[in-house]
Amino acid sequence: MNTKDLPTEPLISGTPAWRALSDHAKALDQVTLRELFERDPQRGQRFAASAGPLYFDFAKDHLTEETLTLLCGLAHTADLTGAIDNLFGGETVNNTENRPALHVALRSNCTPGNHFEQAASATLARFCAFATRIRDGKIKGTNGQAFRHIVNLGIGGSDLGPRLVTGAFPSSGQPNLNCHFVANIDSDELTDTLARCEPETTLFIISSKSFSTLETLSNAQGAIAWLRAAGMTERNIAQHLVAVTGNSPAALKFGITEDRIFPVPDWVGGRFSLWSAIGLPVVISLGEEVFRQLLHGAREMDQHFRNTDWRNNLPVLHGLQAIWHINFRGYKSRAVLPYVHHLRDLPAYLQQLTMESLGKSTTKTGRKVDYSTGQVIWGSEGTNGQHSFHQLLLQGTEPVSVDFIATRKAHCDTENHRHLLGNCLAQSQALMAGKSAAQSHRELLDQGLEAELAKSLAPHKAVPGNRPSNTLLLDELKPRSLGALLAFYEHSVFVQSVIWNINAFDQWGVELGKTLHHRLFQQLDSNKPRTSHLEELDSSTNTLIETLTQAPNPPDHS
Ligand code: F6P
Repeated sequence: MNTKDLPTEPLISGTPAWRALSDHAKALDQVTLRELFERDPQRGQRFAASAGPLYFDFAKDHLTEETLTLLCGLAHTADLTGAIDNLFGGETVNNTENRPALHVALRSNCTPGNHFEQAASATLARFCAFATRIRDGKIKGTNGQAFRHIVNLGIGGSDLGPRLVTGAFPSSGQPNLNCHFVANIDSDELTDTLARCEPETTLFIISSKSFSTLETLSNAQGAIAWLRAAGMTERNIAQHLVAVTGNSPAALKFGITEDRIFPVPDWVGGRFSLWSAIGLPVVISLGEEVFRQLLHGAREMDQHFRNTDWRNNLPVLHGLQAIWHINFRGYKSRAVLPYVHHLRDLPAYLQQLTMESLGKSTTKTGRKVDYSTGQVIWGSEGTNGQHSFHQLLLQGTEPVSVDFIATRKAHCDTENHRHLLGNCLAQSQALMAGKSAAQSHRELLDQGLEAELAKSLAPHKAVPGNRPSNTLLLDELKPRSLGALLAFYEHSVFVQSVIWNINAFDQWGVELGKTLHHRLFQQLDSNKPRTSHLEELDSSTNTLIETLTQAPNPPDHS
């Protein structure tokens, strides 16, 4: 490609709105979080907003009203309003795949005349009816027994959402109906899962929008082999298979009967597809009402996102704050810390949602960006992380964006819940306020330590503080509030993509690995002669292949 053919549209980083934020960031750098709180006793109330079942506190962050005004100025420059209209209006926002991204249509109120919403509603009714018949034992396995095990075979967006939601509400689960999730190509995962199931009472959901994903198809083949080994005929096997896919011809060819194929529209991205038939395992294991409440919570957040002024708009605030962190304060990663055991899979879900959406280096027209996009998302349930990686959050050299998540109403034993909340607030306090070396020194002397030792230990015990964090409170852990929380993150991701002018809905990067794998897989077969491809490989990969295809060393008995 000739350099003169490269797109040259202006980048957001060249706009006055961006420069104003850069200048403002330098000025604000001199002010600590403690000082911001001292200056404004109302800060805790002022820098918080709520929507339906969600309360968002962002007061413990280096920002002021001026910061928010400047960030909103940036959003105007990027035409966030127009972008939101385009998203909801079904415009081709996913330009590299030439399609809309209409996950919001999956949870809408089904506006008459809107064919996306009508199609979504018809599919919803169909898979809910199917799920109810499974739950009621009306659809049975080959020997006439009700299904007792549902195994979802899917990966990425065809796994993480339903896995998270079914894990979030175990008490709503149907007794005698166990839901399992198998994602990895590592067949140990399938083997371990099948060891807990019986063929006659197990239903497999082959969940793949493309119906071409290696991991899922390999696991589906493994499942069929297992059913066959139990003596089932091909016809019987079909009774144990369901497909959720956007590629019905491939599913039919695979042997799934038409009435067992539930469509995923091509205008829904994998990581946004929980709300589609990809949610089937949720409906089977938790029931239709739970799923509808999940959709309801997400719909409320959609309406809030669409209709609320930016200063009070949760996803807009969170998205713009992420821009502030990434582009003006240099925070490279975000820890997502749910202080809710049943939300333990949330960090993994948000990892795909955020990193697959925002891990891009070119604008929508293909121009290379000159600013950072995306953050590394990581985390785990609280309080576990406190005994592990919080050390780095508190005393490490890298500042990290943090989202603490907790519930207002106890979801577990009340006293334990109070411990969870106490710990959650303590961590955000410690990050923000820290502890000076002088204070540590005084404490050590008070404990009776000898002066020299107290002096040498004090710097190690000092916690710098001045580190930001958000706290998100859910009214209670219910499907509605979880739906709202997930939609909140979806829209925050979208806001970030609009500011950076990147496509949040494609994922071309992951394709390269798939292509390379195909070639290397052939080379790793020690029974087959090497092909000319090897010459194209680097010496590291070549040596690794040779090492891997050599017979292992005999055991060392010395
Ligand atoms: O390889 C990435 C990806 O395409 C994700 O975007 C998607 O969620 C996942 O693989 C699974 O894809 P499918 O549902 O088509 O099997």
